[in-house]
Amino acid sequence: MISRRSVLATPLALAACDRFAQAGTAPPATEATPLKDVIPCPFGATANSAQLEDAAFVTAMLRHVDQVTPEWELKMERTLQAGFGTDFSAADRVVDWARDQDLAVHGHTLIWYSQGAEVFHDDLDRRTFTREFDRYVRETAGRYCGRMRGWDVVNEPVAEDGEGLRDCHWSRVLGVEGYIVRAFELAREADPDAVLFLNEYNLENIPAKGATFLKLVEKLKGMGAPIDGIGTQSHLNIEIPAGRISGFIRDAASLGLPIHVSELDFPRTRDGGGMPDLRTPAQKTAQQVARVGELAEAYFALPERQRYGLTTWGLRDPDSWLLRPEHKNWADDHPLLLDVEGRANPAYQAVVDAATGRAGS
Ligand code: G3I
Repeated sequence: MISRRSVLATPLALAACDRFAQAGTAPPATEATPLKDVIPCPFGATANSAQLEDAAFVTAMLRHVDQVTPEWELKMERTLQAGFGTDFSAADRVVDWARDQDLAVHGHTLIWYSQGAEVFHDDLDRRTFTREFDRYVRETAGRYCGRMRGWDVVNEPVAEDGEGLRDCHWSRVLGVEGYIVRAFELAREADPDAVLFLNEYNLENIPAKGATFLKLVEKLKGMGAPIDGIGTQSHLNIEIPAGRISGFIRDAASLGLPIHVSELDFPRTRDGGGMPDLRTPAQKTAQQVARVGELAEAYFALPERQRYGLTTWGLRDPDSWLLRPEHKNWADDHPLLLDVEGRANPAYQAVVDAATGRAGS
């Protein structure tokens, strides 16, 4: 079924495509209107300490955002040292900068399956493991008490395909739900006013994963975990059918919790799969516009108390992890709302239309 959004988006997207795809037709000459002035909720983007040395990046961030998520400096890969030592110097650089600019900070992330195993290794005795787990969460959340608007307390607990939960060093010692409940209880104790999130990806792209995640949130809350909010990373696969994104947002909203669109990007490059990509630039742009528009419309329609914020993972295209050689190395992709000059990419207009209620008109 073609949704109203995808049909209506086509003329808009094709217009955008005309604007960008035809030789000699330049993108908008002017810088985009500040996203924080357009988006009806706090708008955030990631920053890392290297980017803060770039004056153009800092200028763009101060123009567009209300909130910052440190891209990696608050993760164990940077904070946790051998022998359970900690080094928060890089995290302090980003958090202090945000405070100096009067920007909110969203902490990412205290406990993640993909980090910490080299120190919290499997032959550690359970007592030491548990003591150091508690100490790390208390120390990290406690260090920034009162300065974090919210925390991704646990990141990506659900199995890749959505069938069950991840097996990891945390779950093997503390239990598949046990480590999550414990982390949330410790974070609440360390920073009582921070909004505590469970954060996950592919919740829209893979409906089974979205369903498993929401059931997990309900189960954990039933176990007493002080989960305040749902973080949906929204690294969108723009080739998914219309309706999946709005369907997940609707289901997530039914839990009544604040929702953070926590890591939005929407690459044009097909991620693997081996199939030749025969899409034209215009078709890729139409898909970006349709899917981002669907997300924005569904999210902005939520009650204000459930719109914690919309964060893009990077601010301008070149700020994206997706373009970096050490990650996806999609050097010519345009996965974000702004181009290298801070001008509006086609999907920016879909966000504006959703925010002003023009979408679908
Ligand atoms: O900047 C340092 C450099 O100075 C140093 O020499 C080098 C040594 O390895 O590290 C560089 O930092 C890298 C950092 O990105 C900044 O580019 C880290 O190695 C690298 O591990 C880190 O990768 C981050 C990745 O998560 C792992 O933490 C990416 O930036 C970040 O975009 C990515 O973000 C994740 C979210 O946390 C969870 N959801 C998926 C998302 C994308 O993978």
